[in-house]
Amino acid sequence: MIQVSHLTKYYGARSAVEDLTFEVAKGEIVGFLGPNGAGKSTTMKILSGFMPASEGNVTVAGFDVTKNPIELKRSVGYLPETPPVYGEMTVEDYVEFAAKLKQVPKTQLKKAVTYAVDRTGLGPVRKRLIGNLSKGYQQRVGLAQALVHNPPVMILDEPTVGLDPKQIIEIRELIKGLAGDHTVILSSHILPEVTATCHRIVVINRGKIAAVDTIEQLTSRLRKGLIYSMTVKTPLIQGIEALKQVSGVQSITQAGPKLVIEMRPGGAEIRDQLVEIAVAQKLGVLEFSAERVSLEEIFLQLTTEERPA
Ligand SMILES: Nc1ncnc2c1ncn2[C@@H]1O[C@H](COP(=O)(O)OP(=O)(O)OP(=O)(O)O)[C@@H](O)[C@H]1O
Ligand SMILES: [Mg+2]
Repeated sequence: MIQVSHLTKYYGARSAVEDLTFEVAKGEIVGFLGPNGAGKSTTMKILSGFMPASEGNVTVAGFDVTKNPIELKRSVGYLPETPPVYGEMTVEDYVEFAAKLKQVPKTQLKKAVTYAVDRTGLGPVRKRLIGNLSKGYQQRVGLAQALVHNPPVMILDEPTVGLDPKQIIEIRELIKGLAGDHTVILSSHILPEVTATCHRIVVINRGKIAAVDTIEQLTSRLRKGLIYSMTVKTPLIQGIEALKQVSGVQSITQAGPKLVIEMRPGGAEIRDQLVEIAVAQKLGVLEFSAERVSLEEIFLQLTTEERPA
């Protein structure tokens, strides 16, 4: 749905993003994660057709950002870093205004506004002035204007910044609900944000991609060897021995009902196999999990220095 290939953007002589290449599949939510000044907003502006690239190719929903800018813009719902909302307008009027700007046909205006307003939970406040709404609701208005022409792709620049924890959860749920029907890219410099909402993350630092991966794979890639934890009802010695024989298992330490299974670095994914053997050996598996490295840790490993603004 989104293809970015060797994208570079210069501001004057300085590059803000350099040689970015990644793809986003239909229906996916991808998180763009990076510290301040990493180049997130720059990339999102280019992907939405609001700023030209210096080099490289970008296609969104099959439209090339330079060859078909109008069609591309029509395919994208963009929530900029500072949402373009007008305090003196009512929610409904503003969303309708946005729909007109996006050339939603006159006959479909009402339907489009209702769709965007309902989808973003603005129904109860549709007649109120935007300026009188809470920040969270204003953010929903920003989302509604991005959604009003029902674009296949949504590009959301820091959609939960400045919101309180309850509003953050609400907006996250809203965004998750958009996936499937819409392909979503959102940016954040906050780690739990991307773990909570995204299928995959693109870590960007100093204008370059530091990693593109699922959160799970990123975690195991950076880990020396994965560690699984298994809690069993009956820790029979022969069962534990059988688990130790599984290829890829480095060691198993037992503390009462809890088995800590340490894997060899770079080994294959064999969780299924471990559980099957434990079941066959009648250990009575109560719990099985991979012990994760926190995303914070990964982020720190991938993005070390701070860049002066
Ligand atoms: N209009 C501009 N002119 C010159 N330099 C710019 C411009 N916009 C951004 N930059 C620079 O480009 C780099 C990337 O900025 P960008 O806004 O894309 O980062 P960001 O990842 O969105 O950061 P933040 O988390 O602070 O929003 C920064 O070094 C910034 O100073
Ligand atoms: Mg930004």
